Amino acid sequence: MRRRVLVVDDDRAILDVLAMRLEAMGFDVTATADPATALAAEAGRFDLALVDLRMDPVNGVELMEALHARQGRLPVLIMTAHGTIETAVEAVQRGAFDYLTKPFVPDELRAKISRALATRRWTRDRERLQALGQTLASTGVVARVLDAVAQAAVDATEAERAVVFQLEHGRLVPMASAGTPPPAWDALEAGAAAAMDKGVPVTRAGADGGTIVAAPLVVQRGPAGALVVETAARAVPDEDDLELLALFSSQAALAVRNTYELERLRSGALAALGRMATEVAHELKNPLAGLRLYARHLEQRLARRGEAEDLELAGKIAATVDHLGGVVAELGAFGRPPELQRAPVALAALLDECLDLAQARQPGAGIEVVRAYDAACPAARADARELRKALLNLLVNAREALVAGGRLTVATAWAPDTRTLTVRVEDDGVGMSEETLARAFDLFFTTKPEGTGLGMAIARSVVERHGGALAVQSRAGQGTRVVIRLPLDAGEGGA
Ligand SMILES: Nc1ncnc2c1ncn2[C@@H]1O[C@H](COP(=O)(O)OP(=O)(O)OP(=O)(O)O)[C@@H](O)[C@H]1O
Ligand SMILES: [Mg+2]
Repeated sequence: MRRRVLVVDDDRAILDVLAMRLEAMGFDVTATADPATALAAEAGRFDLALVDLRMDPVNGVELMEALHARQGRLPVLIMTAHGTIETAVEAVQRGAFDYLTKPFVPDELRAKISRALATRRWTRDRERLQALGQTLASTGVVARVLDAVAQAAVDATEAERAVVFQLEHGRLVPMASAGTPPPAWDALEAGAAAAMDKGVPVTRAGADGGTIVAAPLVVQRGPAGALVVETAARAVPDEDDLELLALFSSQAALAVRNTYELERLRSGALAALGRMATEVAHELKNPLAGLRLYARHLEQRLARRGEAEDLELAGKIAATVDHLGGVVAELGAFGRPPELQRAPVALAALLDECLDLAQARQPGAGIEVVRAYDAACPAARADARELRKALLNLLVNAREALVAGGRLTVATAWAPDTRTLTVRVEDDGVGMSEETLARAFDLFFTTKPEGTGLGMAIARSVVERHGGALAVQSRAGQGTRVVIRLPLDAGEGGA
């Protein structure tokens, strides 16, 4: 888009020359000799204004102030003849970006214009930035919110890049980024740490003469991370920009906080649903057992009489009742989970076993399985039966997502400093839409014709009862990554 420049000068000759020159430089020029026309010009969004100092009846400084009242950050270059430098300096003190002396020296004109525009680029539009922050609040998935924060920061400031860091187990982890990838993360991370430490936005030198600005993301009691923006050398952020970034990061923090709150509410509702489900399951168990018995009887009788057609029907009834029985049993187990029986569990062996089981349950074709086990993993103190249930559900989901073939990766890792075991189950299958991702843990939520919608809820519940955490990242069409973190030294038992 062409930049819009306003030129106001009561000397027609100068006005025409300037307009021509600026048009030749590629600008969209509005030139007028009349200050009133300048102010009336379409409640205007200009990128730059060139205003003559000496005009009647309004002088240039007054006109500049009137323009600033309408468009606070508009850079104004005051034009002045040699004899009036002092007034020009005063104009700068009153808010002009710089002054130009007449007659114009082409290089000076060009240099000052491009400097004024570069500064403006840093924060293109205050209102836009604020609006973006507000629209973030409703996404519902933390990872998506962070992506949106990074992207919005880049869009609104024309920074080279933006990264959102989050504090995880005492370490700063880049959770989302936008713009060009950074040549190195250290400086950005150090900026994030400094901002979190100080609790206010900080500025430091970036790569290649650029600037790094970091603002803390204050989520609950203290900073949970930081939004870090890096600009190129040509665009130096000022006080105003820092304030703006602080505002934006507080919007972002609010969005993150809301999202966590929503997740918490969801899991509360889930627990209530779970209790209800157990009761329903309990009520259904006996009549279902009766039905199953009758169906079997019927099958046997029909078999004895050799009534093949009816026998087939009875078989279908029995199979359906069996399926229902399975669902009810799982529901009951979900609502009233058994106490954990912890013993040392070798994760790699357990995963191998689950991979085989998952393949038997969902054979698929053309699925490449990659195992990346960390040999340093110590045995987990866990309930192998429960953990098997969780892993199996995840692996079956992954294989179901790989209907058209693809890669299933299963990895483990041991972090001695935090004494945490990590299991990653990743597929490059169909992935989830935002809506599906937000609801994947809801009881009975399924997108599959034969699905029950319990697998993810069971997996998370098992991991959480082990004192761990289960997180999902997914994109429609790209795949899904589930990460389980298990503390090695979790307390015995579990809730
Ligand atoms: N790896 C994955 N790839 C894509 N979508 C997934 C993946 N894992 C889960 N989902 C989505 O989450 C939904 C819920 O999964 P969940 O395992 O709870 O239930 P389900 O697989 O539909 O049924 P079941 O109870 O039989 O496991 C799925 O229907 C699917 O839409
Ligand atoms: Mg499933």
